[in-house]
Amino acid sequence: MTTLIVNIKELLQVRDSSVLKVSGADMAVLPTIKNAYLVIENGLISDFGAMEELPQTTPNKTIDAAGKIVLPSWCDSHTHIVYAGNREQEFVDRINGMTYEEIANRGGGILNSAKKLNETSEEELYQQSKGRLEEVMQLGTGAVEIKSGYGLTVEGELKMLRVIQRLKQNYPVTIKATFLGAHAFPLEYKENHKGYIDLIINEMIPTIAKNKLADFIDVFCETGYFTVEETQQIMEAGIKFGLKPKIHVNQFNSIGGIQAGTQYRALSVDHLEVMTPNDIEALKNTDVMPVALPSCSYFLSIPYTPAREMISAGLPLALATDFNPGSTPSGNMNFVVATACIKMKMTPEEAINAATINGAYAMDLATTHGSITRGKVANLIITKPVSSYYQLPYAFGSNLIETVIIAGEIIS
Ligand code: NIG
Ligand code: FE
Repeated sequence: MTTLIVNIKELLQVRDSSVLKVSGADMAVLPTIKNAYLVIENGLISDFGAMEELPQTTPNKTIDAAGKIVLPSWCDSHTHIVYAGNREQEFVDRINGMTYEEIANRGGGILNSAKKLNETSEEELYQQSKGRLEEVMQLGTGAVEIKSGYGLTVEGELKMLRVIQRLKQNYPVTIKATFLGAHAFPLEYKENHKGYIDLIINEMIPTIAKNKLADFIDVFCETGYFTVEETQQIMEAGIKFGLKPKIHVNQFNSIGGIQAGTQYRALSVDHLEVMTPNDIEALKNTDVMPVALPSCSYFLSIPYTPAREMISAGLPLALATDFNPGSTPSGNMNFVVATACIKMKMTPEEAINAATINGAYAMDLATTHGSITRGKVANLIITKPVSSYYQLPYAFGSNLIETVIIAGEIIS
């Protein structure tokens, strides 16, 4: 099956296969081809170039993209798409003056979602989650990481991971699964942290690894959640079972989580709303991808990740949604890209790099996703006719996506 896209106004993020992430000043560069064609063969990008060089082909299908931009679909490296119900009451409570922290302290927040999840059947959880996955696919996401972390019991965590596995099997979008049993301490372990960590290390991790239910391990390293020492202990246990760490750090406080992440060679460190000069220093000359979640900052009215300082320091940066019921009930990567430009002062080129190739890197997918490269998976966004790709962040409330292609197939 061959699909040919012709007359593309501008083809974005054209890269050599050696580029697995972009950092610092390089983030401002977005390589493109104007008036381009692209060939998809058996779900992969097989060829592309300028229209003048279009070779003689006999495709099964031809798409005319005159006036339209084509770019790699979004790579959303941090989500909690599998959850039960919602937390709209907490949203209203925050409008009325309570803080996210106060809500968590009264037993709401993550524990509220865990209660709902443990009361929801696996089938119902799958049905709710698949609706969210279908929505983000329509919004241009072609690869996504999904975390557990609302079970907080052996059965609840396994249930979440099985739902993620079922989504993987049933949808063309590329999915990576992360075990986040260390998301919060369940009430019964409030005074017995060691007991819950033992459960994670001795029961959850071995069972999950044996059943190949996760690719990565995550910990919410934060005051009132998991300490740096506890985070190190859990990362170490995960690594022994082949799970690479991707951790939640520096959302509200800088307590040394980033340094723990670099020490254990985490694939990514995520959130980073609160960054000290030492934290930025610690990330220099490492393989760790920093990940910003601007929709979370927006929804909770907390600081935005200091992208300018980090990029000036030569660091790479990825952008993801954090789609979850508490801090970010949105999986819209288009909004993330726009908000990064508007609130974090990232240029459109930097934001698109952060949401494609760097997002792919943060999921260990950069060799197959995140750029227009021969041999990579044909995950593409075709926009509506636009004046330039600046429109994507500029017209922040408009849906400018006309067609989404995942693994070579039109899904919309
Ligand atoms: O990434 N910060 C920790 N975890 C999630 C939100 C958890 C929740 O409120 O349900 C996050 O923001
Ligand atoms: Fe998160």
